[in-house]
Amino acid sequence: MANILETFEALHPTSKQMAARAAVVFPSGVTHDARAFEPFPVYVDHAQGARKWDVDGNEIVDYIGGHGALLLGHNRPEVVEAVHGALARGTHFGSSHDLEIEWGEQVLKMVPSGERVRFTSSGTEATMMALRLARAYTGRDRVVKFEDHFHGWHDLVVGRLGPDEAHPHSIGVPDGFYDALTILPAGDADALAEALSGRDVAAVILEPTGAHWGSHPLSPEYLREMRRITTETGTLMVMDEVITGFRMAPGGAQERYGVTPDLSTLAKILAGGLPGGCVTGRADVVSMLEMREGDPDWNSKRRVSHQGTFNANPASAAAGIAALKIIEDGSPVRQADAAAAAIVRGVNGLFQELSVPGSAWCVSSMWHFNLGYDAPWPSDVEWDAAEEPQGVVDGLMRPLRWALFNHGVDLMGNGGMVSAAHGDSEVADTVSAFRGAIGDLRAEGLLS
Ligand SMILES: Cc1ncc(COP(=O)(O)O)c(C=O)c1O
Repeated sequence: MANILETFEALHPTSKQMAARAAVVFPSGVTHDARAFEPFPVYVDHAQGARKWDVDGNEIVDYIGGHGALLLGHNRPEVVEAVHGALARGTHFGSSHDLEIEWGEQVLKMVPSGERVRFTSSGTEATMMALRLARAYTGRDRVVKFEDHFHGWHDLVVGRLGPDEAHPHSIGVPDGFYDALTILPAGDADALAEALSGRDVAAVILEPTGAHWGSHPLSPEYLREMRRITTETGTLMVMDEVITGFRMAPGGAQERYGVTPDLSTLAKILAGGLPGGCVTGRADVVSMLEMREGDPDWNSKRRVSHQGTFNANPASAAAGIAALKIIEDGSPVRQADAAAAAIVRGVNGLFQELSVPGSAWCVSSMWHFNLGYDAPWPSDVEWDAAEEPQGVVDGLMRPLRWALFNHGVDLMGNGGMVSAAHGDSEVADTVSAFRGAIGDLRAEGLLS
């Protein structure tokens, strides 16, 4: 009988051929680090709702959801129609246009912290802009971020902290660049208070669900404490809602947790599945971008400049407006949350039935699991154990992903992004794929 890897290779011959072509075009054959996969990535042909089909005709329940951009699932008709309408009028006017105003108004209506907004072309650009605005506004240089929190790949946030390093490091970024960056363990309010006590920190930036969209959950009390400490010390709180925005509530994590930051960064769902990002927040801070007629000193020395060819391009604006208007009443958030909870209950039920060492949990419509060690169970679906979840033990992730592909499921990390298009059949297919994958891993002696 073929083993897990042999089955994976046998099911994906066309992907294998495409990967060979891509290997001489792109470094590692891919256009995003997270898409690299051994022995080769699976190439997708088309997608619909909660599913996608690869170039070999395999049907897959999709938990990547456009890296989190597709709360409404693939090809939601209203969004597709809006994009077609925009394309028919022109892809780029190089001028202001009606759709950007409507899109901006919609953002301000939905996001609690939003008083002014400026569009960018990606989440990375949004976090870069937010930190620049914060430094310009406060006149302070230092930024605080948290271990393992991801904010894109621009110079300040891209480094990794080695075990004995004072600064993070990424090759290609001058070391001195990190002199004004402090990295703290997330969840420790005393450490935060101490770091901000010198009143020299411009901004604290964080993923409101904890690192990697809830892989390392944070408590809402900590967010409230952060709000209090940042206000007290004149530090701006930047909530990076690139993933959580419009997902955890129509107004994002800040609405769900009732904590309003000074600035918010958004992307992904914001642009309805097309490229786009924004910074929104306090008018006095975002207005650091404004030009002042007759004030050359402000314009040349004090304001923050901003360009970007594709900011608020008509197609992204149209997709964003259509998506946000559907999300506004909260029903897609509730549907996706319910599907994620059903997946977590289904997977935990299966793990218990089969005595699998592991457990699943979710935050809103983002679900995760531990596998390969005796992890605690959440009392319902959200992580509430005192210890940190560890995820999937080393060495198990790759064979697990092959096995899940073989049974028709594509994960994002150790879990996935659930959309409003995920329903009972996706939940059932996912649990059944896990049943199959666990059997396969056990047959190869990879799982106890
Ligand atoms: C929390 C967070 N911030 C920022 C980014 C960067 O966004 P983008 O990939 O659009 O540059 C991401 C991307 O996944 C993210 O998850």
